[in-house]
Amino acid sequence: MTQNSSDQQEILQFTQGQAQSEESNSLVKNQRLGLRLFQFCLASCIIGTVMGLGFYFLQKKTQDPLPCLSPACMRVAERFSAGMDPLSRPCDYFQFTCKAEMSHKSRGKHRGNATRQDVMRRRERRGGGIRMDIVSDTEKKRDDRLPDRQTALLQAIKEILESPKRTASSAEQKAQTFYNTCMRPNITLNESIYHIQMLIQKLGGWPVPGNWTEPEMNSILALVMTQYNTFPFFNVHVGPDRNKSQNCIQIDQPEFHFPIEWNNQINRSKFNSQFLRPFFSSCKELLTLLNVPFTSRTQHCGLYMSLSSTLVTNTSPASYRRSQNLMNLRMTIQELQELAPNIDWLRCLQAIFHPVPVSKSDFVLVHNRPYIIYMSETISKWRHQHRSMDSYPLHTYMIMNALQKLMPALHTGFMQTMKNFSVATNNENEVAPCWKHCVLQTVKGFNTLISHLIKDHYAGEEADKLISDIYSSFKTKIATLNWQNGDTQDFVLNKITALTPRLSTDNEFFNQLKLDEHFGEVIMSEKNYFSNYLQMLVLQQKMRSRLLSHTPQPHVLSIQPFISGNDIIIPVGMFVSQQFHSSYPRAVNYGMLGTIIAKDLLHLLLPDILSQSESAVLESECVWSHYLTAQKGTSSLSPSQKQEVWVQYSALQVALLAYKKSLLRHSSDTSLSGLSHVHLFLISFTQASCDSEPYTAPMPFEPSFLVTVLCVNSVHCPKPMTCVKNRSHGQLPDLC
Ligand SMILES: *[C@@H]1O[C@H](CO)[C@@H](O)[C@H](O)[C@H]1NC(C)=O
Ligand SMILES: *[C@@H]1O[C@H](CO)[C@@H](O)[C@H](O)[C@H]1NC(C)=O
Ligand SMILES: *[C@@H]1O[C@H](CO)[C@@H](O)[C@H](O)[C@H]1NC(C)=O
Ligand SMILES: *[C@@H]1O[C@H](CO)[C@@H](O)[C@H](O)[C@H]1NC(C)=O
Ligand SMILES: *[C@@H]1O[C@H](CO)[C@@H](O)[C@H](O)[C@H]1NC(C)=O
Ligand SMILES: *[C@@H]1O[C@H](CO)[C@@H](O)[C@H](O)[C@H]1NC(C)=O
Ligand SMILES: *[C@@H]1O[C@H](CO)[C@@H](O)[C@H](O)[C@H]1NC(C)=O
Ligand SMILES: *[C@@H]1O[C@H](CO)[C@@H](O)[C@H](O)[C@H]1NC(C)=O
Repeated sequence: MTQNSSDQQEILQFTQGQAQSEESNSLVKNQRLGLRLFQFCLASCIIGTVMGLGFYFLQKKTQDPLPCLSPACMRVAERFSAGMDPLSRPCDYFQFTCKAEMSHKSRGKHRGNATRQDVMRRRERRGGGIRMDIVSDTEKKRDDRLPDRQTALLQAIKEILESPKRTASSAEQKAQTFYNTCMRPNITLNESIYHIQMLIQKLGGWPVPGNWTEPEMNSILALVMTQYNTFPFFNVHVGPDRNKSQNCIQIDQPEFHFPIEWNNQINRSKFNSQFLRPFFSSCKELLTLLNVPFTSRTQHCGLYMSLSSTLVTNTSPASYRRSQNLMNLRMTIQELQELAPNIDWLRCLQAIFHPVPVSKSDFVLVHNRPYIIYMSETISKWRHQHRSMDSYPLHTYMIMNALQKLMPALHTGFMQTMKNFSVATNNENEVAPCWKHCVLQTVKGFNTLISHLIKDHYAGEEADKLISDIYSSFKTKIATLNWQNGDTQDFVLNKITALTPRLSTDNEFFNQLKLDEHFGEVIMSEKNYFSNYLQMLVLQQKMRSRLLSHTPQPHVLSIQPFISGNDIIIPVGMFVSQQFHSSYPRAVNYGMLGTIIAKDLLHLLLPDILSQSESAVLESECVWSHYLTAQKGTSSLSPSQKQEVWVQYSALQVALLAYKKSLLRHSSDTSLSGLSHVHLFLISFTQASCDSEPYTAPMPFEPSFLVTVLCVNSVHCPKPMTCVKNRSHGQLPDLC
């Protein structure tokens, strides 16, 4: 089709659309709906006008944009050509499916029904935080989308760690050395045994009946916690105080190395008894490798497991503790000492947080008071009971916990015993590929460094501009909403104005940080992973004390914005995905990551907007009415779908407005495949929506349909996309 005739077609479609909507105006049956939509269109004109400003500017473009030819651009262009252009066939939106869906025959056209399960499954697989979920091979084949954002981030860190040592700083070299020795530990079984035997001696040696003096429990406990980052009786971390203005020490129940079952009839936990036997045998195998005599093996493993299964009974899931108000109990260390006298709290906490001073009158938050009391009583009871039997369960228990912690750094023979156990427990987490394991270990020790490297390698200055453009358009969008309640409106608008968005690495601490000095004391060995691993445990431990002195955390593995004080932190890890690259045309960055950030901001800051603003409800209904007109349907949306439709449509508007603002500042932008700026933006949006789906609320239609709605009127788009076929239902508003 020549340019001319396609232009004519557009004009034809546009005028037909106008004529039909005038015709149907006279047929409006539902006067109220008409009135509401009319009022609503007035409101939406405000944002329409703001966005339109940019369009005039675009119309004036004088020359074709330069193509982007970077390797990243070539890759993304390839994906675009395999995907679908939402502007090419405007009436096909209800047949359009993301590429992965098309390859799966059993999926229908309608996402709402057919893929809810898939969405949930994908969501589960992604999980929260850094859980390494394993995807079966068949799933991998079916899901030919990009790796999820979390895996993409880990891969990006891997690339940094594997990149040849350019003029790497000394801190960077240390991280790379750590990673390399982790990937190729090259440790013999004899060396492992030697290291562990030395370490056990440092902890006072194995308890043996007869001529053995038990070291003072609290000194060994402090040693295990500070040197090996191992917390056998209780967990210690640092988090916001109850009023969130400051960090404080948090005391929590410990983690156990067994599968735990929660019985909600009696509100008690226990180990899954099915796994006790295999664990017992792998424990004994482990001690066999360490040349522990046969009878002692049985005793150590038996005591370790029975003390663990005693302590675990008083632990409970966070949801239960929350419901029973067992979380966030604020008390001084002195009060904690009275509550649980068998732990020397002040001494332990001072050791952990050295050199940050800790005193008796400092407050801590206790997250499971009954457990802490029970743990202290158990220590006392077991100590007395076993003294007469010449066995030392508390000491054994601490050594066994430290051994578990060190296992990953030992010869594969040790890991094998654990693998046998994890096969028995079907614990998939253990099967994470080696590179993922090593990236995660490196991040644990070097998180401040890694977040800097991510910023240098991936985010660059473009990231800061994108964040500020998106937030400014986000505020514009929010300003156009009406609110039922003036107080709520003031509250939300004030909050949004008071918050400053920033990249997670942009703050005073990181700007002044001298990384080489920061990691100055770390000496990484090219050969000995075990010694590197021990240093990593100490680094991790030091991070805890820095947190207490209010050093900001780098949040390396976060991929969603969050609020911290007066800042909205945009994690630097969001910028490593295929949804952003500093060489991409801005149209692609704003269309992809820009809409994702806008979506995240809307979810974060306006979670109940539909109950607070009628115009948001109307916008959502407006988009849906377009869909029903095309589909001749009558069904309605669930509240969560309504919310998601509004969020996704608004995110598209916000990102487009942000892109147009950026063009006003800098009129030139590169392009791909000769596409115009906004056209490229819209394709990028469609692609990104297909690639990632971080929310459970399923969309009732493909995200590309939002482009069709946005482009009903050519104010925003290169061409109007009115789909005029078979339009027989009520009046449609021009703009949503
Ligand atoms: C969705 O599924 C329900 C029940 O399985 C069915 O009744 C309904 O017709 C489906 N809707 C669409 C749009 O396919
Ligand atoms: C592994 O260790 C052995 C002995 O310590 C050494 O000779 C060999 O070079 C090491 N291999 C690698 C790849 O580092
Ligand atoms: C490992 O140690 C054992 C006993 O300590 C010894 O017999 C064996 O030769 C050692 N193996 C190697 C490879 O050094
Ligand atoms: C007990 O240990 C002490 C010090 O290690 C040693 O002097 C003594 O001979 C040992 N006694 C026996 C019976 O092993
Ligand atoms: C919050 O905690 C800090 C430190 O404990 C205290 O100084 C401040 O007064 C508290 N603020 C409120 C509002 O409770
Ligand atoms: C267990 O906890 C629930 C609340 O989650 C409570 O209703 C129930 O009475 C408790 N059961 C026992 C045996 O304490
Ligand atoms: C692990 O299990 C395999 C097969 O079940 C067995 O052959 C092997 O000896 C076990 N390894 C260890 C270290 O227990
Ligand atoms: C529109 O109507 C024609 C004939 O009535 C039909 O063939 C076509 O499939 C319809 N298109 C849509 C999108 O429903």
